[in-house]
Amino acid sequence: MNAFDRPASDRAVQISHRARQLPASPIRKLVPLAEAAESRGIEVHRLNIGQPDFATPPEMLAAYQNFKDKVLAYGSTEGLPALRKAVAEYYSARGGPIGPEHVRVTVGGSEAIQFALSAIADPGDNVLVLEPYYANWDGFAAGAGVILRPVPTSAQDGFHLPKDEVLDAMAGSRTRGIISTSPSNPTGTIYTLEEMERLASFAKRHGLFLISDEVYREFAYDGRKVTSALSLPSIAEQVIVADSVSKRFSACGARVGFVISRNQEVCDAFTRMGHARLCPATVDQLAALAGYQVLDRFFDNLVDVYRARRDALVDALEKVTGVTCVRPEGAFYCMVTLPVEDTEHFASWLLSDFSWNNETVMLAPGRGFYVSPGRGHQEVRMTFLRPAPVLARCAQIIEAGIEAYKRAGYGD
Ligand SMILES: Cc1ncc(COP(=O)(O)O)c(C=O)c1O
Repeated sequence: MNAFDRPASDRAVQISHRARQLPASPIRKLVPLAEAAESRGIEVHRLNIGQPDFATPPEMLAAYQNFKDKVLAYGSTEGLPALRKAVAEYYSARGGPIGPEHVRVTVGGSEAIQFALSAIADPGDNVLVLEPYYANWDGFAAGAGVILRPVPTSAQDGFHLPKDEVLDAMAGSRTRGIISTSPSNPTGTIYTLEEMERLASFAKRHGLFLISDEVYREFAYDGRKVTSALSLPSIAEQVIVADSVSKRFSACGARVGFVISRNQEVCDAFTRMGHARLCPATVDQLAALAGYQVLDRFFDNLVDVYRARRDALVDALEKVTGVTCVRPEGAFYCMVTLPVEDTEHFASWLLSDFSWNNETVMLAPGRGFYVSPGRGHQEVRMTFLRPAPVLARCAQIIEAGIEAYKRAGYGD
């Protein structure tokens, strides 16, 4: 018997209930099928993921080249002081006075969300989320033992905020907060100033935190304005903003985000949480700092390019029989309803059984963006992060896919 053989009498180890229950992300779970299609020589248009295709600012990339320290040392838990100052200035221009003491640098917006959830809710508490919502919240909530309680929104209302009565009915004795993402992933909806004020009144009435995920703030179309939750004075101490450089600077691999709050107790808790992981990555923070120095120049024309891409995709989809979608107001996602019973099966089938001129598309099945049973089965989330002609072709591929799917006997 070698040292790795174990006697039959040993009890088998078991992974946690939490780990077993954790759902796979709808955004990434079909990757193995996409890779298999690519290995068969098929071009897969990956409209499943929010990975911008425009170049990261060269000033950010230069920060990596220019790092000359002899030792790549730990930095401060709260983040580089110069970066916290730059972010404070950015928010002061958008949401009223914010100081570096209100800002903590995190490992991506993802860690910002985890910190925010853990700071406001204990295991078994619940947090309201406007549904459909960014699917990775499921993983964050599971990690913190927090229950997400869905507040449904509908395509008919453009996924806008439901009436106050609907919100009020959702707040219970263990509700600790509400999550708002505007502009939204996955719908692109932007809450108006009036809606943000209604969220503030709701949070005040029920003594809740408002976690405002603002990672898509710059991506607003047709002259719409994005209201930062930091500009709502009535709930100044109840707001926690999660933010990131990922989408803003086409720098998803930098893994730099921020969590911002005027509530000192919350900020102190973030610092203690941060102690456990020591510090965010030093050189990535230097790159992020360089990004904030060129922000305005970087966004010259960019929003117009995205608006044109959105229109190319939505206009082409609207021509496909049985397909409907709400034209997104911001971000770079849209929820699209397809004339099939189960988009989970259809999206897998597009990768494993279908191609059109040797091309296919990868979509994110809608079900994973809902927690309410039965919702999202006919929807997919699509991104418009490719040139307009490619997106128009993707709509044609989907049209051909729907027809072939029905011919294959799956029907609607
Ligand atoms: C709404 C939203 N919040 C947060 C994140 C996480 O961003 P990061 O890459 O900074 O972790 C994403 C990523 O797609 C997102 O869509």
